[in-house]
Amino acid sequence: MDGGGRCVRDDACPAGRRVLRPPQVESLLWDDWHVVAEFEQLRRSGRFATALLDVPLTLELDPDSGTVLARAGDEPLASVRIKYGFVWVCLGEPSRDIVEFPECGDADRLLGTAGSVRVAVSGLRAVENFLDLSHLSFVHAGFLGEEPLTEVKPYSVESSPQGGVIATGCRVYQPKASPIAREGFDVDYTYAVLRPYIVVLYKANPVEQHRRDMIALFVQPVSAESCVAHLLTCYLEHGVEPAAVRRFQQFIFGQDRPILENQLPKRLPLTPAREIPVRADMASAAYRRWLTDAGIRYGAIPAAADPAA
Ligand SMILES: [Fe+2]
Repeated sequence: MDGGGRCVRDDACPAGRRVLRPPQVESLLWDDWHVVAEFEQLRRSGRFATALLDVPLTLELDPDSGTVLARAGDEPLASVRIKYGFVWVCLGEPSRDIVEFPECGDADRLLGTAGSVRVAVSGLRAVENFLDLSHLSFVHAGFLGEEPLTEVKPYSVESSPQGGVIATGCRVYQPKASPIAREGFDVDYTYAVLRPYIVVLYKANPVEQHRRDMIALFVQPVSAESCVAHLLTCYLEHGVEPAAVRRFQQFIFGQDRPILENQLPKRLPLTPAREIPVRADMASAAYRRWLTDAGIRYGAIPAAADPAA
């Protein structure tokens, strides 16, 4: 946790090498930025071991310069940055920049990392679960939904011109939509899948219901069947305490984790008919279609390779 401060660290780190892309990882993933650690966790330990796209990584913080050295095996990596309280790396040649969230610069918002949770499932499954409106009243009953108000009302899904998927007009009754919500209300939701492993949710703020809080999920694909889910929250202030935000998000994600880990197969099937889409799953169906069109196979079971198709 970066203490919830509004300072966004965005440091370029010392130059190093790039790693040769293995054939099983698409360039769209290899040549992109991924979160690999919370900066605060690295600051506390000074050294941190993890993995990205099957590549073992070691992160080391230089206490004098505050920069991070990332190594893939013995090779120092060229592309390492600290942003939004997380350490980001690109294993290849960055083909685009780290995702931008203009609202993170708003003076009346509290920006904070809300935890990093290891999950034994494909990261694409974690993104899909984040998009799934129909599980809220069952899995997060009493917080993000409530029986018998389980119906998912119609909403719109479209492709984003920048790539990815946007779902708008989602409306869900939530008894406790955020750590500061005192009573339930119909919460407006917008989802945007920005990258194959990055999704962001904008939801109405309980105090200023015409403005939105933002929660981003950065999924680190450790392997094709395991991931670390990193959460970034950008709430309007209104008495929000960073520790309460973190507790709330970790509690909610703790409800998702066993469900995710019980999903079989562990990779996300992209075949449309395999897990029958209903209206509630429109965003998920659009996500799978977009992954197919983008040629993503890592963490997925493409239709052509699906024995059940
Ligand atoms: Fe959930």
